[in-house]
Amino acid sequence: MSVAEVHEPVGAGTAAPVLELVNGSVRYGGSGTPAISNVSLALRPGEILGLVGESGCGKSTTARAMLGLAPLTSGRVLLHGTEVVTNDKRLTKDKRLRAAVQAIFQNPAASFNPKRSLLDSVAEPLRVHGTNSAAERRRRALAELDRVGITAAMASRRPHEVSGGQCQRAAIARATILRPEVLVCDEPVSALDVSIQAQILELLSELRSENRLAMLFISHDLGVIAALCDRTAVMYAGKIVEQADALELVHAPRHPYSVILQDSAPSLDISAEPVTRLPSRSSPDVVDGRQLAGCGFAALCPSADDLCHTTHPPLAPLSQAHDTACHHPYTPEPAPAEGSSRPAAD
Ligand SMILES: Nc1ncnc2c1ncn2[C@@H]1O[C@H](COP(=O)(O)OP(=O)(O)O)[C@@H](O)[C@H]1O
Ligand code: SF4
Ligand SMILES: [Mg+2]
Repeated sequence: MSVAEVHEPVGAGTAAPVLELVNGSVRYGGSGTPAISNVSLALRPGEILGLVGESGCGKSTTARAMLGLAPLTSGRVLLHGTEVVTNDKRLTKDKRLRAAVQAIFQNPAASFNPKRSLLDSVAEPLRVHGTNSAAERRRRALAELDRVGITAAMASRRPHEVSGGQCQRAAIARATILRPEVLVCDEPVSALDVSIQAQILELLSELRSENRLAMLFISHDLGVIAALCDRTAVMYAGKIVEQADALELVHAPRHPYSVILQDSAPSLDISAEPVTRLPSRSSPDVVDGRQLAGCGFAALCPSADDLCHTTHPPLAPLSQAHDTACHHPYTPEPAPAEGSSRPAAD
């Protein structure tokens, strides 16, 4: 499947964000290197924001912070502009945040009770949120499963009796049955075969269009991100280092780390081989709990100079919808004028 087949940008435009993480930092155990530092992300209705970066850079921690599940050292989570999580507590315990923000993960089977049918598991959130009639719960769960392509016959099976793709479809049904406004998707296709990945991405794209569902979509694969997302944020060593329109970021990355990520992606065609060569996180900007002064990517960066080693580059706008944290962002080469051709040699 090509990018064009699944990339359907929705005009999220300048609508107010549904869910925001503002200057979120998480330091597990209260000391040492922060897993994420001063991360700010905003999700608007109907928008899919991709979050990409190598393993261990802080993507899942960011997702958990936005779900109110990671311990914020500092920062806030806002739902429709209202604070729901701060660094010391979840201000709105469970219900509002849980109903509005749901999640799917890489390994759906692990989050299902192995002894229960898919139908029972998908119906469970209805019971928790007060639908008392068992017949009503069953009817709505079957309809939600049907919406994601799971038949009634398949719905009676248990998680280990269906394929990984079918299990992920059921996990999506369980996440959407309460009609959330935001779906946090943490590597939901990473464990699936490439052909199944394409089907799940298409399903997510359809669900966003039907319900103006906002999504945070996490992947280490820039090709998958470009296929589905409207905007992309690139994370390195716990910080957002670049954020832009998804296709602009793939075709004209400005941060040197994004350029390396992009060069590592073999193709934007998600039916191609997955990304296998990602640079390692070998240059965190905190060592032994001490914040290094300069850019966290300086030790690996081909463009690093003295300024980079001494002064931290803040995330700042390069243009209206393109931010980067770099003292010397790459300048994209101008696209050749249409119809132009190389001049003939004399
Ligand atoms: N529950 C935890 N306790 C302690 N450290 C953790 C925990 N979860 C993640 N980390 C650490 O935080 C950093 C970021 O992890 P994570 O957010 O899972 O990254 P990613 O999802 O990008 O692979 C890593 O160094 C990881 O080891
Ligand atoms: S600030 Fe300097 S070291 Fe960091 S990414 Fe930019 S050019 Fe490279
Ligand atoms: Mg992760």
